[in-house]
Amino acid sequence: MTQTITVIRGDGIGPEIMEAALFVLDAMNAGLQYEEADAGMVALEKHGELLPQSTLDSIRRNRIALKSPLTTPVGEGFSSINVELRKRFDLYANVRPAKSFPNTKSRFPSGVDLITVRENTEGAYIGEGQSLSEDGETAMLTQKITRRGSERIVRYAFELARKTGRKKVTVVHKANILKSTSGLFLRTARVVAAEYPDIQCNEMIVDNTCMQLVMRPEQFDIIVTTNLFGDIISDLCAGLVGGLGLAPGANIGTEAAIFEAVHGSAPDIAGKGVANPCALLLAVGQMLDHIGQPENATRLRHAIVATLEAKDSLTPDLGGEGNTMSFAKAIASRL
Ligand code: NAI
Ligand code: MG
Repeated sequence: MTQTITVIRGDGIGPEIMEAALFVLDAMNAGLQYEEADAGMVALEKHGELLPQSTLDSIRRNRIALKSPLTTPVGEGFSSINVELRKRFDLYANVRPAKSFPNTKSRFPSGVDLITVRENTEGAYIGEGQSLSEDGETAMLTQKITRRGSERIVRYAFELARKTGRKKVTVVHKANILKSTSGLFLRTARVVAAEYPDIQCNEMIVDNTCMQLVMRPEQFDIIVTTNLFGDIISDLCAGLVGGLGLAPGANIGTEAAIFEAVHGSAPDIAGKGVANPCALLLAVGQMLDHIGQPENATRLRHAIVATLEAKDSLTPDLGGEGNTMSFAKAIASRL
């Protein structure tokens, strides 16, 4: 059976890492067809807008998109194309695994294997109620947390734990200070957690969580938290395991899901063919899990680990002398 997915090659290093990712994906015979769609600077040049209707239609139709990084031009249209996409499709769950890999420049070459589940649509990132007083002395911002939004993200985290055989969910909050917003999130999380007696649940305040992550990251399994805390914590976790070249992310909603690397379009190395394709490939792994091909997802992850172990054709960010395509070919040869 074939399935069509939307492919967005994106800006900067986007086309290079997408070519590499599709090369590996083709080598897997996963039965996927690609519908190409434009977004970002490429789309602005070709269609006169950053996020053309045809791209939105394609994602709506196929429900699955693999997306390279997009450059949001300063002072143009939306504050961020990525935030806009999350809003349009109500992609409420941002799922970011962080796992130790061999031969990275990580401080934790082993022992880290956790997933941050970040609420993606509420909190400090709704973009509402932002104002600056006329004298420029006072700035304001509205944060909104809903019981429904909290419930569905915490439920997503517990369901993910069950599905992946993980044992523990840590609810990260700041309810001691942010009594209304973080308080509602925490109270809702407790109600949901009670429905999952098979999964251990603990609560941790966000600042302590940051210290604990750096001191003893092995204590974490799944972290679930609100938008701003999740943004910061997931980058912290990416840093623990060796940086952006290895950090994938999924944006999941009920109508669509978009899989991407956490990093941006890396203008400093664009066009040189040296970008690390692993983050996007690990996002491909998340996508394969999501569309019901867990065997292929595992196959892909094993091939990535084996290639890192062999130090075969690694890109310069990992200390190697390979390039984007030679790295991808080395991975494909180990599938
Ligand atoms: P960036 O992630 O593009 O680059 C940060 C540093 O990491 C650079 O030194 C870059 O060379 C390096 N890097 C990133 N990905 C790499 C890879 N695969 N292999 C090797 N090295 C890699 O962040 P920056 O410079 O802050 O943003 C550049 C542009 O990307 C901006 O326009 C920003 O808006 C956009 N962006 C897009 C995202 C998305 O589409 N999801 C996410 C983050 C930023
Ligand atoms: Mg971020």
